Amino acid sequence: MCGIVGYIGKRKAYPILIKGLKRLEYRGYDSAGVALISDNQQLNVYKTKGKVSELENFVTQKDISGTIGIAHTRWATHGEPCSANAHPHYSSSEKLALIHNGIIENYAVLKEKLQAKGYIFKSSTDTEVLVQLIEYMKVTNQVSLLAAVQLALGEVIGAYAIAILDKEHPDEIIAARKSSPLVVGIGEDEFFLASDATPIVEYTDKVVYLEDGEIAVINRGEELKVVDLNNVEMTPEVKKVELKLGQLEKGGYPHFMLKEIFEQPDCIHDCMRGRINVDADNVVLSAVIDNKDRLLNAKRFIIVACGTSWHAGLIGKQLIESFCRIPVEVEYASEFRYRDPVINEQDVVIAISQSGETADTLAAVELAKSRGAFIYGICNAIGSSIPRATHTGSYIHVGPEIGVASTKAFTGQVTVLAMLALTLAKEKGTIDEQYYLSVVRELNQIPEKMKEVLKLNDKLAELSKTFTYAHNFIYLGRGYSYPVALEGALKLKEISYIHAEGYPAAEMKHGPIALIDAEMPVVVIATQNALYEKVLSNIQEIKARKGRVIAFVTKGDTVISQIADCSIELPETIECLNPLITTVPLQLLAYHIAVCKGMDVDQPRNLAKSVTVE
Ligand code: F6R
Repeated sequence: MCGIVGYIGKRKAYPILIKGLKRLEYRGYDSAGVALISDNQQLNVYKTKGKVSELENFVTQKDISGTIGIAHTRWATHGEPCSANAHPHYSSSEKLALIHNGIIENYAVLKEKLQAKGYIFKSSTDTEVLVQLIEYMKVTNQVSLLAAVQLALGEVIGAYAIAILDKEHPDEIIAARKSSPLVVGIGEDEFFLASDATPIVEYTDKVVYLEDGEIAVINRGEELKVVDLNNVEMTPEVKKVELKLGQLEKGGYPHFMLKEIFEQPDCIHDCMRGRINVDADNVVLSAVIDNKDRLLNAKRFIIVACGTSWHAGLIGKQLIESFCRIPVEVEYASEFRYRDPVINEQDVVIAISQSGETADTLAAVELAKSRGAFIYGICNAIGSSIPRATHTGSYIHVGPEIGVASTKAFTGQVTVLAMLALTLAKEKGTIDEQYYLSVVRELNQIPEKMKEVLKLNDKLAELSKTFTYAHNFIYLGRGYSYPVALEGALKLKEISYIHAEGYPAAEMKHGPIALIDAEMPVVVIATQNALYEKVLSNIQEIKARKGRVIAFVTKGDTVISQIADCSIELPETIECLNPLITTVPLQLLAYHIAVCKGMDVDQPRNLAKSVTVE
């Protein structure tokens, strides 16, 4: 987490840095800061607790001149959010300033060593240790900033993307990465630096994604130089970014989250473009066809992911198992990476990640790869770390997701998983031809059906007013609707701070039913499927205990509407694709409840979009 921006060129650095921080605020927003080498060669550091807008207020009346600078928006890991812990951090002499995204794991040992040599620390962060260590290396070895950075990073254990300024070299930024993302933008006589390409696209489409262990030496008026810790020069690969500026704006919506919910019909259409051929009634995911030998011979699939992406994985399990008859395990990446899992060369690991940067998922990928498994990535952020670490994969192509609560990425992930399962099943011959055709045709109808669901927005906005009183919610579903229940509950928790739990509906009677009383809202996904009657019985059980049932049913359902306190009718679809329909109203419900409660929907407390730390 944390967002990093840097600039060196002919323009004023400050406005570019602030705009860049705002684009990266989704990565963390508990404090922000900027360091500039001013027109009169001073190294000025300004930082404060709170969002980037508070930093802007803080710097009024201060010297913000200069054409070189670095800036940071923080998501606290070591040390509470406060201005002392905000980045940039000065070295003791105040000649160096450094920003950092990641965690220095051996910071305590390094700090002790530096303290023994007389270094004084002003913050409780791991980052300050790094800047002091670089200064120590520079002074004691009488070397350049680059050499000092190389020496210091050689002693560091952990993850970092850093950028550093030296008052004595006002025309240079040194930046380095290991396990945290860093992108260099190349303009006309100017360079940009950022955690992802979003702050850069406005100025240039030429970027270099730094690889682990690489250090960028960025000097005014010179070519970009990339070296490693041993000073071996690397050849940077310049790539073109396809991102459009309009994709990063709210487009008239009050929040990014609402915009992203409403974008879903187009996103799913984009996700399927070129992959579903409706005339020929078939789906082709090229990564599956290109790696047929490896995938068709897989004895087992293991899906690794976190949070919402893990919920998509649970749906993927049902799709792959039922279409392809291959066992699938779904693992939290954070657990998988540390429990010495049994993995063999015939396993295929599917890593699902919107950001492509989640540290636990990336580590799970590396572990599985080191044990010979074949790795398939399902990601959104193009060129991010996970797609670069996998053997093959499919992007979900839903465009940048900026609201911290994931919405369109989830439906994009489920769509890709459905296409993957269909492509594989067809190749393996494990799916009935008629059923295959019906799923392909129905998948193609999903964007139109999502549009119908979005027409319920006003109704859900009205309904949500009734539930702002609640401190707890239960979400229930069965089969394909169980992961949807988990996802609905997560959305509500994240943005409204109401405690919510998702359960498989039949598990109710094994404990959670004790929670039901007249105050308890229970959201039930009760669309027509093989388990409809059973879900109906679960609703009866809740009503018998006076729980308040909000049921999401298939259009035309007259049974549940008689029993539930409120029932919302959704367009009919094939059972395995139901999550693509039922998730949308749950996103809207969570959104409107949070708005009614006056919450910061796009930037909920304590969260960050891209979890690049453990
Ligand atoms: C919830 C949410 C998170 C992410 C999780 C994994 O709305 O966004 O639970 O799903 O942090 O992130 P990615 O998919 O980027 O690996």
